[in-house]
Amino acid sequence: MNFSDSEIVISLLKEDGFEPTNNFEEADLLFINTCSIREKAEKNVKNRLKIFNILKKKKPKMIIGMLGCMAERLKLKLLEEEKLVDLIVGPDSYRDIPYLIKLVESKNAINVTFSNSKEETYADIKPVRENGVSAFISITRGCDNMCSFCIVPFSRGRERSRDPKSIIEECEELWKKSFQEITLLGQNVDSYIWYGGGVKKDFHKASNLKKYTSINFAKLLEFIAKAVPSMRIRFSTSNPCDMSEEVLEIISRNTNICQHLHLPVQSGSTRVLQRMNRKYTRVEYLSLIRMIRKILPDCSISNDIITGFCGERDQDHNDTLSLMEYVKYDFGYMFAYSSRSGTFAEKNLKDDVTEKIKKRRLSEIIDLQRKHSYERIQRHVGKVQEVLIEGESKKSKFHWYGRNSQSAVVVFPKDNSHLGDLVKVKINDCTAATLIGEVLKH
Ligand code: 5AD
Ligand code: SF4
Repeated sequence: MNFSDSEIVISLLKEDGFEPTNNFEEADLLFINTCSIREKAEKNVKNRLKIFNILKKKKPKMIIGMLGCMAERLKLKLLEEEKLVDLIVGPDSYRDIPYLIKLVESKNAINVTFSNSKEETYADIKPVRENGVSAFISITRGCDNMCSFCIVPFSRGRERSRDPKSIIEECEELWKKSFQEITLLGQNVDSYIWYGGGVKKDFHKASNLKKYTSINFAKLLEFIAKAVPSMRIRFSTSNPCDMSEEVLEIISRNTNICQHLHLPVQSGSTRVLQRMNRKYTRVEYLSLIRMIRKILPDCSISNDIITGFCGERDQDHNDTLSLMEYVKYDFGYMFAYSSRSGTFAEKNLKDDVTEKIKKRRLSEIIDLQRKHSYERIQRHVGKVQEVLIEGESKKSKFHWYGRNSQSAVVVFPKDNSHLGDLVKVKINDCTAATLIGEVLKH
């Protein structure tokens, strides 16, 4: 999401006469786009700012700005702590950046802007994309789910959906520019709803006609699949409480929609899920998994898990391990719980699992996921699969890397294929996380 937002900021700045550079030391204007999701993400930003500090001493006129969730979350506190930051701009205020730069330049003043919006979706801004193969497209902003551990509803504000017309036009334009893949982005794509703009609260007030003519995620997905029938379509993230059978049916009917779902469970224990305010139980999650396997037997499923959440007992942890055994995720992202200031959990629940236990449980979960990833990736070996060439392999300049429909990474010799080609690859072998193959000759 931040990557996609940065492309919007570049576009806004280009209109104002700025050009991006790959060498940050030569920049006149330096922005860092920040994440607040876990404590570690914020620590990384603070370390990066130390490097900028050294740079600023050499180039006192350089303007340094902080964008994103950390800017929104810490606001004035950041100015006290990070004296070198000139601009602090939250995720809904990027249109103000050119004006704020002028203020800093003319008055040499420190400026702050914040406020979450109920309307802003940047629908009219054309992001500046450097990679010509695969593009991110934001379809919703913010989140209304209020999971008790999560800072996002506070840092990114109320959930809003973007005008479908502008989304489809952007997809068509990308296809004309030879992009081969799009990834639709939202904190919770399944709750996408368009009835004319604004937040969901207004949707309940909207007239019956508006409700009748509204567009949900399933419809949007189908419109896009039909508008750009040869473009690969991905989306992330799906929330188990909103994912519908309709979406699964649309994936099964449209071969250009990739066979991969990112469906974070967070915990395998209903007791913990309730404390997390996740709005589904273990049983409901597992029946959703069964429905996915029935409608999309070849689909890969990935996952996020938080371990060591407030009040998590050994039994809850074992429930998470047994759920993983049942689902056998293709891959996953696993985190130790870190308390975020202002969230329901931070205010009302005790962060009572010791760091030692969090670490032990996390490593058990990671080990199990590694085992499952290896088991799952092997099902591709021996098959011929379509792979989109996304870049040069990091390990060899003679090899490409790309992904199959299930989002598994495939590495193969370049032969006569080119960046951006959708090629048929015979999968010969695999490591724990990578498939190894060769391009089939036409
Ligand atoms: N502590 C640890 N992990 C978190 N996540 C969100 N908030 C926290 C937190 N406070 C994880 C969730 C989410 C992913 C993006 O980050 O698993 O799905
Ligand atoms: Fe955070 Fe929950 Fe929203 Fe995801 S769905 S962004 S975890 S509040």
